Amino acid sequence: MCGIFAYQGKKTDVANLIFYGLKSLEYRGYDSWGILIKKNNHHFYLKRQTGKITDEKLKTIVATEGFGHTRWATHGGVLEKNTHPHFDCQKQIFVVHNGIIENFTQLKQNLIKKGHKLYSETDTEVLPHLAEELGKKINDRLKIIKEIIKKIKGLNAIIFYFFKNGEFYAFKNSSPIVVGKNYDGVFLASDAAALAPYTNKVYFLDDGEIIVIKNKNLSLFDKNGKPKKISFIDLNYKAQDTFLGQYKHFMIKEISEQPKVLTTIAETQEQNLKKAAKLIKNSYGSYLIGCGSAYYACLVGTYFFSKIAKRHINAAVASEFSYLVDFLKETSLVIPLSQSGETIDIISSVKKAKEKKAKVLAITNVLGSTLYREAHEKLLLLAGPEKCVLATKSFTAKLAFLYLLAHILNGSFKKGKENLKKAIKEVKKIINEADKIKKLASLLKNKKHIFILGRGVSYPVALESALKIKESSYIHAEGFAGGELKHGVIALIEKQTPVIIYNPSDETYEDTLSSAYEVSARGAYVIGIASKNNPVYNQFFSIEDCDDATTIPNVVFAQILGYYLTLARGFDPDKPRNLAKSVTVK
Ligand code: F6R
Repeated sequence: MCGIFAYQGKKTDVANLIFYGLKSLEYRGYDSWGILIKKNNHHFYLKRQTGKITDEKLKTIVATEGFGHTRWATHGGVLEKNTHPHFDCQKQIFVVHNGIIENFTQLKQNLIKKGHKLYSETDTEVLPHLAEELGKKINDRLKIIKEIIKKIKGLNAIIFYFFKNGEFYAFKNSSPIVVGKNYDGVFLASDAAALAPYTNKVYFLDDGEIIVIKNKNLSLFDKNGKPKKISFIDLNYKAQDTFLGQYKHFMIKEISEQPKVLTTIAETQEQNLKKAAKLIKNSYGSYLIGCGSAYYACLVGTYFFSKIAKRHINAAVASEFSYLVDFLKETSLVIPLSQSGETIDIISSVKKAKEKKAKVLAITNVLGSTLYREAHEKLLLLAGPEKCVLATKSFTAKLAFLYLLAHILNGSFKKGKENLKKAIKEVKKIINEADKIKKLASLLKNKKHIFILGRGVSYPVALESALKIKESSYIHAEGFAGGELKHGVIALIEKQTPVIIYNPSDETYEDTLSSAYEVSARGAYVIGIASKNNPVYNQFFSIEDCDDATTIPNVVFAQILGYYLTLARGFDPDKPRNLAKSVTVK
């Protein structure tokens, strides 16, 4: 969702720097943007506009400090007046903000009564006016910020910029702020990936802490305003991992990276997974939670645990989990799965689980993310930065972790690893068949509906496949459990309705084949994904059986199909409409 990038230092092309900083945050999703540059002690450059980040003029401005923001509208429409930075009556205090000020209506009314003029429909605009108002009585800017923290409610990441003094004050509650430093200056961003081209030394601000940038230096203060040492950590990826390189889109780049990611997991995670398995064994009830794709990974996990580890594990959508926490106790284990580690529904659930004293084992892709820091124990997905809004490599990485974890619980890690390696071979094979999938996409591109069927562990794979197709191609796609066909779904099948059938040679094979015949008898265009071909399939894609790890190449087929459907229909796979990469507001 919204993105923040700020710099103060020796570099004189700060506008250009912020421009590229905001560009690198585009993937989070946004509908408008703004930038403030201090030109000298009396003049600034302020630009706020709706739509894509474009401004050639920025590159010519000579200046050494400023900040920018990409906005994903929550309070107030996509209008120039609602874009950040917002400012006070004197245009001396500027603010960029991610999140929601829940009590802004009350604050706004009080400020208006005191004579402040507010022009936007946003919650953010109250912030610079609050600072202006408090500044009438308080001289110390740190104290003003501490007062503001006390007055506002909600989950936020906020940066104040005091123009005359050239000082930035940043703080957060839940939403991330990352601090960076290199030999020429200091940075603030909402995402470590935006800092990767400039530094690999970062600090993830904690809730309630205040970071101050003044005279190109950083000072950190704890919740009580006491100075604190900043302990920088090393980013676990390189800047080039965040670039497109030879690829046209991040989606296809990230799909293609899957064999490498999965191999790293297979080769390096045994010890970490053993520790995680111990936590599961010692717990009385384990709960996988996630949103969207991550939730579907949780569902796949329930089948892995039942079939391989002979263990019951619960799965819940994270936004619902917070209504289900009453049964949690000290011995419960909550396992949140989240690529970004910032998804608000995950963070809220984790906080509630911790209130109940449950243990939290996070599986996330982002080192230093809020989830990473909130959890008692953590596993890093090692998928590298995922910039396409659609989850691809992070999804299969989650499956690989859960698959190996189930095998460790069963005492059969070696077998799990062998099967995962077979699956990696199949992933490579399906990536090499991209041209055939592209042809299928051009055949299906004008269809209104695509249905996807699977049984057992292939059922959540069908759900995830449907999500991959609908998110960016905007074709209605729906995943079903094969057994549900006769309970209503079959009514939707007409002549030439595309139905994708996942039919690995497992215990579901015969029943799934029957489903294929049933839809075929009603005129469906049947696409079989299986190790064995059958005349019922109008098109067939061969994926060898690799035990339940077949789920991984199966989903890669749908990722590639989703990608080509999106291109065939003329849309951008990396930035689907209305979607954001990190869903940091409810
Ligand atoms: C789908 C997708 C989303 C995310 C969901 C959770 O392609 O990307 O459904 O999976 O928003 O995000 P994380 O994993 O960051 O918590």
